[in-house]
Amino acid sequence: MADPSSSSSSPKFVYFVVIPLIMLSALVLIFNHKPSSSFSFLLPPQPLSPTSAAPPPVVESKRKYGDLDMVEASLAKARANIHEARTNNESSYDADYIPHGPLYRNPNAFHRSYLEMEKTLKIYIYEEGDPPLYHYGNSLGILGIEGIILHQIEISSFRTTDPLRAHLFFLPISFQSISNYAYVVHNRAWYPLQNIARDYVNLISTRHPFWNRSLGRDHFIVGCHDWTPKISIGAENLYKNSIRVLCNANTSEGFKPGTDVSMPEIHLPEGTTDGLIGGPPAEERSVLVFYAGGIHGYIRQVLMEQWRNKDPEVQVHEYLPENMSYYGMFRRSKYCVCPSGWEVASPRMVEAIYMGCIPVLLKDHYAKPFDDVLEWTKFAVEVEVKEIANLKKILMAVPREQYLEMQRNGVRVRRHFEVNFPPKRYDVFHMILHSVWLRRINVQLHQPHI
Ligand SMILES: *[C@@H]1O[C@H](CO)[C@@H](O)[C@H](O)[C@H]1NC(C)=O
Ligand SMILES: *[C@@H]1O[C@H](CO)[C@@H](O)[C@H](O)[C@H]1NC(C)=O
Ligand SMILES: *[C@@H]1O[C@H](CO)[C@@H](O)[C@H](O)[C@H]1NC(C)=O
Ligand SMILES: *[C@@H]1O[C@H](CO)[C@@H](O)[C@H](O)[C@H]1NC(C)=O
Repeated sequence: MADPSSSSSSPKFVYFVVIPLIMLSALVLIFNHKPSSSFSFLLPPQPLSPTSAAPPPVVESKRKYGDLDMVEASLAKARANIHEARTNNESSYDADYIPHGPLYRNPNAFHRSYLEMEKTLKIYIYEEGDPPLYHYGNSLGILGIEGIILHQIEISSFRTTDPLRAHLFFLPISFQSISNYAYVVHNRAWYPLQNIARDYVNLISTRHPFWNRSLGRDHFIVGCHDWTPKISIGAENLYKNSIRVLCNANTSEGFKPGTDVSMPEIHLPEGTTDGLIGGPPAEERSVLVFYAGGIHGYIRQVLMEQWRNKDPEVQVHEYLPENMSYYGMFRRSKYCVCPSGWEVASPRMVEAIYMGCIPVLLKDHYAKPFDDVLEWTKFAVEVEVKEIANLKKILMAVPREQYLEMQRNGVRVRRHFEVNFPPKRYDVFHMILHSVWLRRINVQLHQPHI
């Protein structure tokens, strides 16, 4: 995935990708350079004369002051209710599921926040841009969650077509498509990819008043491709202010846990979770610890050096032996090592959770998904990279009772990582959205003084 040289450059590719791409770039340029004399957010609103052919933003400008206040008032109410729930241990009614127990940092506050989100949240999706660079995502492969979430936002009931009621604005940029197509087309340089993000922000900030109003703070993007963080640098305020939902949640590469959202990488080989979820109970798991995968990056290098073919209880492989199945080993093992590769995230963490194996996170600088809600220590083990040599000792030292409890919790936390078509309450789609919601309610926007 980090090597883009495998992309094809057949004539088909030229017709379906290169030409539309060039046309699209031209369109974006045209839109950007269209003089926007009609509406300037920095000037006092002009009284409308009945004869003037006023473009829509000017008409909206009269309403929008009151509307932002209403949007902020609804968030303030949600904020207060969540705050109240933090200290109150009476759980709210819920027909489907009531979060409880040690899995959650504060089950009541989470539950209330979730319900407030369902009651309140409205998302506006910019319509600008054509597939495949916008409004489209491949939902297969190890980055498939990007396409799945993009699509699920577009069809969700949180969507509003009235931007004046929206709490959040979604930029439907397809980072996978940009990375797959534009990189090679443009001779493997970064800036054309970054320009696509910048041009899109310029386009929507010229045509609509909402970006400038908050400098992007109530706007969000979703990208699972490794390069999403790098591409987002192309638009300064997108990088600095917006909520970036990223699989590559590397805190030493600009990921800000208070603003950005960590999205789990999820690989669905058949496009659904059928056959992936479930596994035998703890007592039937005979292998202590399992890992199989390529030696990408320094962490896996150390893991291999220390553990490959060293100990029958520590099944660490680069290539899986023929008599073992990959998912079969997740189901037979107590612990499954999830090391960073070239990038911090990989689908193993969710595979382990799906199959009842306890994830052993072996990562530096990784912001874990849903960390502000979930108590990860109750269903996963974190081992520091410098402790790899002690991996077996550390896992053997976990008391049996604690292992059993973690395993039970892992089964319970599964619902929050499940992908459903269409989405179900409390599943991964809703958890990602809830993370975005939490970040939005922490920001208070004010109508700029003019
Ligand atoms: C937003 O700000 C940019 C840069 O200052 C400006 O070019 C653009 O016209 C503004 N958008 C609106 C809708 O006023
Ligand atoms: C929380 O519940 C416990 C019993 O389950 C009760 O003793 C305590 O007073 C409750 N606290 C609050 C703040 O309601
Ligand atoms: C696979 O074969 C090896 C020996 O070749 C054996 O030690 C191991 O137990 C086998 N594993 C499974 C899952 O059958
Ligand atoms: C995270 O970012 C740092 C700083 O750029 C980099 O050195 C490191 O390799 C990244 N980690 C992974 C696993 O990609």
